[in-house]
Amino acid sequence: MTTREDAAREAAALGEQLRRHAHLYYVLDAPELPDAEYDKLFQRLQALEAEHPELRTPDSPTQRVGGKVLEGFAKVRHKVPMLSIRTETDITPGGASAFDARVRKELGLAEDGPQVEYVCELKFDGLAVNLRYEQGVLVQAATRGDGEIGEDVTQSIRTVQQIPLRLHGDAPPVVEVRGEVYMRRDDFEALNERQREKIAAGQKNEKVFVNPRNAAAGAVRQLDPAIAASRPLSFFAYGLGEVSSPEQGGPDCATQFDWLQQFHAWGFPIGAQTQRARGAIELIAFHETIARQRDALPYDIDGVVYKVDSLELQRRLGFVSREPRWAVAHKYPAQEQLTEVLGIEVQVGRTGKLTPVAKLAPVFVGGVTVTNATLHNEDEARRKDVRVGDTVIVRRAGDVIPEVVGVLPESAARPAEQRGPVFTMPRRCPVCGSDALREEGEVDYRCTGGLFCAAQRKEAILHFAARRALDIEGLGDKLVEQLVDANLIRTLPDLYKLGFTTLAGLDRMADKSAKNLVDALEASKKTTLPRFLFGLGIRHIGESTAKDLAKHFGKLDAIMDATEEQLLEVNDVGPVVAKSLRTFFDQAHNREVVEQLRACGLSWEEGEPAARAPKPLAGKTFVITGTLPTLSRDEAKDKLETAGAKVAGSVSKKTDYLVAGAEAGSKLDKALELGVAVIDEARLLEILENGL
Ligand code: IVH
Repeated sequence: MTTREDAAREAAALGEQLRRHAHLYYVLDAPELPDAEYDKLFQRLQALEAEHPELRTPDSPTQRVGGKVLEGFAKVRHKVPMLSIRTETDITPGGASAFDARVRKELGLAEDGPQVEYVCELKFDGLAVNLRYEQGVLVQAATRGDGEIGEDVTQSIRTVQQIPLRLHGDAPPVVEVRGEVYMRRDDFEALNERQREKIAAGQKNEKVFVNPRNAAAGAVRQLDPAIAASRPLSFFAYGLGEVSSPEQGGPDCATQFDWLQQFHAWGFPIGAQTQRARGAIELIAFHETIARQRDALPYDIDGVVYKVDSLELQRRLGFVSREPRWAVAHKYPAQEQLTEVLGIEVQVGRTGKLTPVAKLAPVFVGGVTVTNATLHNEDEARRKDVRVGDTVIVRRAGDVIPEVVGVLPESAARPAEQRGPVFTMPRRCPVCGSDALREEGEVDYRCTGGLFCAAQRKEAILHFAARRALDIEGLGDKLVEQLVDANLIRTLPDLYKLGFTTLAGLDRMADKSAKNLVDALEASKKTTLPRFLFGLGIRHIGESTAKDLAKHFGKLDAIMDATEEQLLEVNDVGPVVAKSLRTFFDQAHNREVVEQLRACGLSWEEGEPAARAPKPLAGKTFVITGTLPTLSRDEAKDKLETAGAKVAGSVSKKTDYLVAGAEAGSKLDKALELGVAVIDEARLLEILENGL
């Protein structure tokens, strides 16, 4: 048992260390201690406090989540009202100039007089709180409320790691620090991911949040501190409430900028972008710089704030109604807007993915007019329960595709008969009518039309023409685009009907290129079964699976008619591949494409099914090394595998034969050492011909 004094001394030292490291980690983003070490210190302090409960002070790092579940929020009257700022609705540079002009006029500055100094900050999109510290210890946190009376949210605010429970350094008897509680975008995404999991697990009371602001507001107004703690919040300090005068021990700051530095010294994060500016021109430059950075910031902002820097000038400027004349919020185009859903359509992407898309009453959001917004997939569309006629929140941030964030609660609350039907994904592709399937474990439906589907045509043709497929030289994306758009190619066989005259008649097509393409098409007709199979672009059928299939079945018809069970017998073919093949060849039009291609003259050598072919080398293991006189390594490997042998990469006691060519190295030494039979290419060919 530690003595009281020892325990008190150790607890104080631990508290100091923990505060310092938490600040380094959460505020300065420059941790010095591995998490596990921090946890050890934390647990040591917890243990001490358990042994000596009187050491458990309210500002102890262990006391961020301590309180009971509340019944409701107590009201708090603000000692200094929490004002709001005037919003400059002119989002062009003119907005900044207008503010500067107003300030100059109010201050009676001549046109050629000195520039006014400002502080430029970000306008964080969260909710404002007032944090009251007495003797440096956080005693109360309150929301803004109506500006006069807010709600006591001390308990949930204590869980915000970026808010110090005790101010660092010298603290005045009383100070109220104001700022914005917000949620970072990555924290928001992770929170929603957890929420979705809870909902999927059947927890009815859980919901997904529409945006970081709402999630932050929900977390702050959370009555259960444990839940609040599980919703990661962040904080930026930007303003002041009540504060002891310098005579009473308060800091002597003459400018907003000095206050921000003081907040930082006390342990609060302040915006890294915060900057001093002189005159309208520098305000405009700040607005434009931040506009470019906006989408890359880890949190949402809806504008910037300009504040007259000098507190003396702020006093002279004073207020109009409830807004200071010395500050203004200069906005950016909103990234979220409300609009009505006119319809829900399903679009087919170039890979066959079906995406539900909401058709919207045109709305200006994120700087452009939006009429379409993605609903991502069937699950998302149903989870958000978007119906025709609903009023929805549309979001467009940066260059990201606009999305429907959610339905406005009032709209969702209308009786079912006043709303459109629940969204269901069509079971047929809206473009080509082929079956649309959703594979197990996948969120997306896909059109099985493949080459037949106009939406997938360009992609399908490019794949077919690729070097490792039919290898049609000169058939690149620009040309395919042109051919498909001109309706010259509807399905793959149309490729082989393109004549010189048609091709030469295309825009930007020289006679020479047209001739070359005709030749390339002709040359591609003589191909191999694996190339052809791969070229069809069947989902999940890559080059090597195509080879395995060709080897196993020998003939295309055998593959087209194989059952899933038969397909599963092939090397490396699993249920996903088997199903995909089956689905593809079950579509009559896909078979037709194959027939037509054959009719166009495409041909390849067919072989015997491997299963029935003799396997004279079954059970034997070969290793190949060095350069063989005529066969490439891959050819030798191919031949051996067809004969049933296993081809390994290194020599061991299990190796039956080492096939050695010129410049064989360490493998040969190893084989000789182990007494493995060494043969040359001639002997290999003989074995392949006549068996062992
Ligand atoms: S200063 C008297 N600075 O915007 C000035 N506000 O209506 C008081 N906000 O309620 C506010 N970032 O929630 C200020 N850098 C910033 C801000 C900011 C966000 C919010 C705050 C306030 C509202 C203004």
